[in-house]
Amino acid sequence: MAPLKDKIRDRTARVGIIGLGYVGLPLAVEFAKNGFDVTGFDVDTSKVDAINAGRSYILDVKTEDVAATVKAGKFRATTDMASLKDMDAIDICVPTPLRKTKDPDLSYVVQAVDAVKAHIKPGQLVILESTTYPGTTDEVVRPALEEKGLRAGVDFYLAFSPERVDPGNESFVTKSIPKVVGGFNRASTELAAALYGSIIDTVVPVSSTQVAEMVKLLENTFRAVNIGLVNEIALMSHRMNLDVWEVIDAASTKPFGFMPFYPGPGLGGHCIPIDPFYLSWKARQNGFECRFIELAGHVNSSMPEYVVERVGEALNTKKKSVNGSKIHVFGVAYKKDVSDMRESPALDVLELLNRRGASLSYTDPYVPTLQHLDLNLCSIAEEKVDGVDCAIICTNHKVFDYDRMAKRFPLVVDTRNALKGMAGDHIFRL
Ligand SMILES: NC(=O)c1ccc[n+]([C@@H]2O[C@H](COP(=O)([O-])OP(=O)(O)OC[C@H]3O[C@@H](n4cnc5c(N)ncnc54)[C@H](O)[C@@H]3O)[C@@H](O)[C@H]2O)c1
Repeated sequence: MAPLKDKIRDRTARVGIIGLGYVGLPLAVEFAKNGFDVTGFDVDTSKVDAINAGRSYILDVKTEDVAATVKAGKFRATTDMASLKDMDAIDICVPTPLRKTKDPDLSYVVQAVDAVKAHIKPGQLVILESTTYPGTTDEVVRPALEEKGLRAGVDFYLAFSPERVDPGNESFVTKSIPKVVGGFNRASTELAAALYGSIIDTVVPVSSTQVAEMVKLLENTFRAVNIGLVNEIALMSHRMNLDVWEVIDAASTKPFGFMPFYPGPGLGGHCIPIDPFYLSWKARQNGFECRFIELAGHVNSSMPEYVVERVGEALNTKKKSVNGSKIHVFGVAYKKDVSDMRESPALDVLELLNRRGASLSYTDPYVPTLQHLDLNLCSIAEEKVDGVDCAIICTNHKVFDYDRMAKRFPLVVDTRNALKGMAGDHIFRL
């Protein structure tokens, strides 16, 4: 049998992707589009059925691409983990959430690794892509895979490669986002780099799985801390009667040494609110306290409260209270142009307003219904929204007509500067 290196070069390597979500599906399609034989493994039968019917369920992945690769026989999906034995390379892209205690929940990774262990074959390459703390690949994945007697780096190859996909970003996609790869040993790094190098423009090898794991956490902690800083600057600017957005725009003209971050209603998504806590948990195990992460988490998680405070101030100018007012939220997904609701700060804003007695509704073309705690709402088409006391722009989807919004509503609280350049006593920015 040809060695894996040759199979990768000839694109005859069979690639298995475990977890067909926001990360796994684009990756699987990219491999399939480039001629690899791809099998997607997921425990969710609705996703498996959708793929085998040639349908995408992720906005960034075109249904045409899924349909074409499935029709060409290059991509199929299954819930049957036994087919892992037929794979040459296996990418694990399952969720890594936090427990209620904010400790890492590796249960999905452990489950996926158990499935790989049950079917592992000599010569296979196993890569973990799920975001996790430094040491996971070597301390959790490797010992489990070695239980059946095969040795990492010798009998099978093992690497970590963080996923950097940015849902909704049209400029940078799987192919154009450089891929960091760290193997258990040199041979593992080289094979993983060769595999990704056949579908991704730039591969960045690093010296170990731990470095690759830490790279991802540095990137996302960098964002979380800078967003925390700019959110604090926004609160400060409001006290000083300064427009923080104007300040950021002017600071951004500096051609070096400054990178703009923007305030908002709070952190959302599966990465920025979660990943830094993977790092602080691991640091604590080593007797190190991550003060920046804790502080940024504190500021960022206070933002929904601040939005509600601004809504109260806006209503006050009309001698109204939150209690009894009709408040309409534009955009509930965690960021613009996506349908992902995970950790969305709009949920906190809605929940806080609900507790204060507001009558609530929302518009989000990407989120037709919303169930959260006591809330059970359906998206209302923008033209049907009527009798609103105050509108809140929580998520600045491109499809919204902001000019019309500014004209139609008696009060607008804009958490994203979506009404940039528009003036009026009825517009309240963060
Ligand atoms: N979403 C992003 O933008 C993003 C970006 C970079 C990194 N990440 C990281 O990538 C990982 C995956 O995130 P995601 O957003 O794709 O998650 P997701 O929830 O969209 O997808 C995960 C998929 O894994 C499946 N799954 C769960 N357990 C499984 C098992 N044991 N076997 C097979 N399938 C299983 C789920 O059914 C789901 O389809 C996480 O670690 C996340 O932090 C996500």
